[in-house]
Formats: sequence, structure tokens, C-alpha cells
Amino acid sequence: MQTVPHEGYGETWAKIILFGEHSVVYGHPALALPLHSLRMRARVRPVVGDSTLEGLGYHGSLKDSGGAFASVRRAIEVALDYAGAPGVSVAVETSSDFPPERGLGSSAASAGAVIRAILNAMDVSADGQRLFELTQQAERIAHGRPSGLDAVATAARGPIHFHSGRMRLVRMRLDAPIVVADSGVHGSTREAVSGVRVRYEHDHEGIGRILVGLGELARAAVRDVRVGDAHALGNKMNRAQVLLARLGVSDSRLDALTRAARQAGALGAKLTGGGLGGCVIAVAGSLADAARIRVALREAGAVRTWVHAPETTEVSV
Ligand code: PMV
Repeated sequence: MQTVPHEGYGETWAKIILFGEHSVVYGHPALALPLHSLRMRARVRPVVGDSTLEGLGYHGSLKDSGGAFASVRRAIEVALDYAGAPGVSVAVETSSDFPPERGLGSSAASAGAVIRAILNAMDVSADGQRLFELTQQAERIAHGRPSGLDAVATAARGPIHFHSGRMRLVRMRLDAPIVVADSGVHGSTREAVSGVRVRYEHDHEGIGRILVGLGELARAAVRDVRVGDAHALGNKMNRAQVLLARLGVSDSRLDALTRAARQAGALGAKLTGGGLGGCVIAVAGSLADAARIRVALREAGAVRTWVHAPETTEVSV
């Protein structure tokens, strides 16, 4: 059985959606921020025999990896096809600084890293658009009909404004830290997205209005990020959280965490990503405020927090 000629490496990172989760699926704009210090790394090595996967909570033969790893299998398949080596065997190893199924983009990040590692091992190059398309093929297995926001944001150099499949980098002047807190509950983006779809089919007008409102907040927040207006940004986050709760994608834990962050002085807080579990984000006025908010979030039940300062993401476990 054939294998790759030599080792390959690829990496991507986590992302948070500042505004526009769910509404982006319906063509409204969104604003997302890559977290460059929370990395997803993939290594690909030549192997004799069957392909293997190590990482993402699995160790063993790729063909026995089951439904939960279907999107990684697809990522490997599309990358090998693109490299002109369909079906060759690879040993894939991943390691991640952030947990899966928490709205931080783990599925797109792992697909993107694996694809880059395979192309690197095959000495094949691909431009950003091609890498995006390959990642989206794996994301379709993970999410059904993904907007593409995760595939873009987990490989972006900076904050991105995403609209109808097109993205543009946004210059960010915001020097306010953003606290990210993991509720500890697995979120299922696929379930959350299909729940919104069902509600939209039953109540086109009501749900449609919420989606438009979320899109308007995303559009207006681009200005806040550009000029560094953390108060205005926080205010919009609070309004987005109200709309996301009305959309049915928040839950009592996420509501409690956002409340705790505000009570501890956050300028605004909301869930991020698919919801129904996963993470919340809160914008703080200063690093000292961020430290207080972090403690309050831990006391309110968050299992892990990170502080994204303009250049760094510091972790506390
Ligand atoms: O939960 P995450 O990180 O995969 O984010 C999903 C974002 C959604 O808008 C809910 C879905 C999508 O395809 O954009």
C-alpha cells in the first residue's frame, strides 16, 4: 500500500464569533476573531498498512473511527484527492490547545490543520480559496450546511467580517480584553442550527426579524472594533445575547454565565458559536476587570477561561 513521501505539518487556531452566529447561515453578516494563541496542530507521517488517527480523543485505525470522526476522515480524503494521491495511507496526529464542541471552531480547525499537513507531506501547495473549499467539504459532514465562517476564521490572520460567503479582514483598534469561558457543556452546532431552521419554518416573520437584528448588530459592530469602542461593542453583545436567547440557542447555564460576567463589571457578554452549551465571551474595560470577570465566571460554573488580550491569549485551567 502506498503512503506519503515524508512528514507534513499544518496548523490552524480557535476562533470566537463576536457577532452573527446563526444569522450568518441565512446570509446576514458576521464578525469573528481568530485566537492565534489557541492552536490546532496536525502532523502526518508515512505509515505501513492502514491509515491511523491519534488525537481529538481517538487512537486507532482510521477506518474504525466511527461517526464522530467522519469529518476528519473526509478532510484526509479530500486532501489526498487534491494532492493526486487518492487512498494512500497516512498516520495523522493532532494536538489542540482548546476543547472540541464548545463553539470555538474545533471541527473546522482540525479539518483545516489536517488538510494543510497532508498537502505539506505531498509537497502540494494550495491558495487560501482552495484550502477554504477543501475545509468546507469536511465541515459539510460536521454541520450539514455550514456558512463557511468557521473555515475562514480558523485560518484568518485577523478579525474578519464575513458576508454571503465573502470575507474581508477588519483592522481592529480594540484594546479591550475579551474573556472566553467554557460552560463545560458540549454544544452541538448541528442540533442548534437545525432547531433554528425548524423554528424559522414555523414562524418566518418572528424568527426572520431576530435574524435581521443579529445581522444588524454584526454590521454595526464592525465600526466599534475599528475605532476601539469597547462600551458600544459590549452593549451590542448584551443585545445579541437577548436575541440569541429568543432564537432558542442559549440555555440556563449560558444565561447565568453572561449575567455573572456583567455583574463582575463586563461591558457586555454573550454566547459564542452554535450555543446550547459551549462558551460565552465577555468584553472587559481593562486587564484588571478581565481578571475579576474570570474569577466570577469560574464561581458561576465555568470549567475553563481564557483572556484574549490584543496580542495574547492567556489560559487558566
Ligand atoms: O459552534 P461553532 O463554533 O461551529 O459555530 C457555528 C456557527 C453557526 O453560525 C451557528 C453555524 C455556521 O455554519 O455558521
